[in-house]
Parts: sequence; structure tokens; C-alpha cells
Amino acid sequence: MVKFIIKSLLNKAHFLNWNQDDYLKYFLSISNNKNKIKTILAKENTPIFIGDTKIIAQRHHDLKNALEKNWLNYQISYSFKTNYSIIENNYFKNNFWAEVVSAKEYLLAEKNQYKNIIFNGPLKTESSLKQAIKNNSIINLDHESEITKVAKHNNKTKTNFGLRLNIITDQTTQKSRFGFSIENKQAEKALKIAKINNVSISGLHIHLGTNIPNCKKYQQAAKKISDFIVKNKLTKQIRYIDFGGGFVSHANPPNDRLNWNIPDIEEYIQAITTTLKQVFHREKKPILLVEPGRYLVEDAISLFSRIENKKIENQTQLITTDTSINMLPITHYRKHIVQIAKENLNIKTGKKIKTIIYGATCQEDDILFEGYLPKISESDYLIWHATGAYNDSMNSNFIFDKPKTVFI
Ligand SMILES: Cc1ncc(COP(=O)(O)O)c(C=O)c1O
Repeated sequence: MVKFIIKSLLNKAHFLNWNQDDYLKYFLSISNNKNKIKTILAKENTPIFIGDTKIIAQRHHDLKNALEKNWLNYQISYSFKTNYSIIENNYFKNNFWAEVVSAKEYLLAEKNQYKNIIFNGPLKTESSLKQAIKNNSIINLDHESEITKVAKHNNKTKTNFGLRLNIITDQTTQKSRFGFSIENKQAEKALKIAKINNVSISGLHIHLGTNIPNCKKYQQAAKKISDFIVKNKLTKQIRYIDFGGGFVSHANPPNDRLNWNIPDIEEYIQAITTTLKQVFHREKKPILLVEPGRYLVEDAISLFSRIENKKIENQTQLITTDTSINMLPITHYRKHIVQIAKENLNIKTGKKIKTIIYGATCQEDDILFEGYLPKISESDYLIWHATGAYNDSMNSNFIFDKPKTVFI
């Protein structure tokens, strides 16, 4: 008990040392892009998401380097649902495969001519599976009925079928509902069902969750996958292993985390590959797939909003802005990193005062920020950093249209 209390106090202390200002350098730089941002803001109404592809390219470069150094045979797939507004961007089409989780997303990837599509998710319609088989996409099967569904349409194409595995690690806090469990032998049973149905399994897939700051989780998952491969004599059969996403960005930690750190992307890749190398030391290694979402896009996009109203009560500035919690649904998940800029886009610094920022809907709880910020004037801009992941795509269209996304 004493040990537990000390541990949680230490965790709390670590969390309290978290300083969001240290991370501003990872986001859209207002001072370096002032003229480009001014041009956009002169043409477009707020609220508006403004993104910087250079930041995406930097994350992509770091991930690519880590994969090249540690494995060589790899492919990066962008997880579409993180942000749909950027899938038409040529940088995405030219550099990533598409990772999709529904028939709607599958069609989007086809329409945008992505070279390869990885089809995941618990609900794949029969017609979308048929199309994915025709296109020789990668299909990661989530449950037993999907095996029999694909068996109906699988006339020995080159389609790669994989099993999504359900893995428990020492760091697992909540058991996943997805995939075939290694622990209770569902995965072995799935291999047998696939064999009976002439569905050749050539891949294994996991997605351990989002925002995972602990690389040990990937290491343990890689060990469990390796043991599964060896035990079931799959080394020659397995052509790809897909480790999903979950790599963190530089945004604030989720509200429910007591401890937080941001590993370098190479730490994740090393955690995975050092373990896999123990099984795959022959020349032809399987393709290592990763499906990053927030790691690629969260830092790169910031929302710009303006002030609708300001009042002072009990020495607190109460601001109503022209965005809302429905345009930034991630507000429920973690605290925002906000900067105040004057009309000329100079960032305001100086003494911070107690501030509450309300959204523009008629909901009492449309509260976007509570904390300390410099004094805000009605002509200022609010800049909501690291809003590129799961805001645009989860936007509810409630009362207002969803904001546009424009790249500088
Ligand atoms: C199967 C799968 N792959 C990849 C991702 C992307 O995750 P993240 O945004 O944490 O990188 C998700 C998101 O939940 C997912 O469900």
C-alpha cells in the first residue's frame, strides 16, 4: 500500500512538471509563417484550421529513418479517420498507403487513388470486402464471421488476409474488444477456421490503442506475436506484421493519465524490431507495417478563432469565441494548448490572468479552456495548437458548419 501511494505521488509530481510551453516549438510557428497565415485569414472566415505540411513531412521523415535503420522492409499507412480533410493532399497520396476502417473510408481511399489500402475495423460490409478482394488490398480480419464472409468471395486472389490479434501486456489497463485473443486461444482457432475455409493468412495485425507513451507495451506485444508465430510455425507464411498506431504527438497528455512522457519515434520502432529480429533473422523479413494517425497530423494543424464577447467577473476574463466544443471534441479528452495573437499576429506574452473561454453554442458546458492566459482583447486571435487529430473527423456539425482546413 505504502509503495503504491509513493508511486502515485511520484507519478503526480512528474505530471505536475509538465510544461506545455516547452512543446510550442513542435506546432505551427506563427512568427515564421506570419505572411502566409495573414493571407489565409484575409480570405477566409474564422474558425479555420491552418496546417503546415512541413511538420507532417518532418514526422514522416523521422519515422521513415527509424524504420529504414531498424528493419528496411516497411510501409507506412495513414489512418484515415484521424483527419479526413487531408486525404486529398498530394503529400499523403504520394507517401502513404491508406488505413481504413469502414466501407465509406474504403471508397474514399479508392476515390483518392491511394496505391494500397489496408482494410481494418469491426464492420466491413460484404460489398466492400468484395471490392477489397478484387483490388488485392490488405484485409485484417477482426472476428470469425469475417473469415467466412471473405471465404465466399476469395477465389485465390493475391489478397493478403491478416488476423487482428488481441494482446494483453503488463501495461494493459483495459482489455480490448477487438480481434482474436492470443491468451484464450481464439487466435489459434481462427487460423484453423481460415484453413478450413481456404483463406490463406499472410499477416498479423495489432492496434494497442491511441496515445501510448510506453514503448514496453510494443516490445511485449512484439514478443507475444513472435511466440505465436513460432508456436504455430508461421515464419514462412507471414508476409507482413502490422503494429497499428498509438504513437504520441506533442499535445497535452490525456486527462486520465497520471504519468506522461513523449518517446522518440525510434524508441517505438526499436522496441518492436529488436524483438522481431530474434525470430526473423533470415534475409527475407516480413513487411513491417505501421498505421500512425495522431503522430503524423496532430502537431501540424492549429485552429484559429476570434473573440465574440469578453467580460470580467471576479478578476477572471470570460471570453466567448467563435469556435465550439463540437468543433474541438477533443476538449473532453485533454486540455488545449492556446496562444493569443494580436490582429497583426504578434503573440501576446506577459502576465497571465485567470481565464475561461466559452464556445459559441448555447450549451452551458461549452467550455474550451480554463486556466491562465495573457489579457485578451476583442480584436485578438485565439490559436488552438495540436488540433489536427480527431477534431475535424469527429466534428458533429452541431449548430455551425465545420471549419475548413487550409495548408500554408
Ligand atoms: C486500427 C487502427 N490503426 C491505427 C489507428 C491510429 O491510431 P493513432 O491515431 O493513435 O496513431 C487507429 C486509431 O484508433 C486504429 O483503430
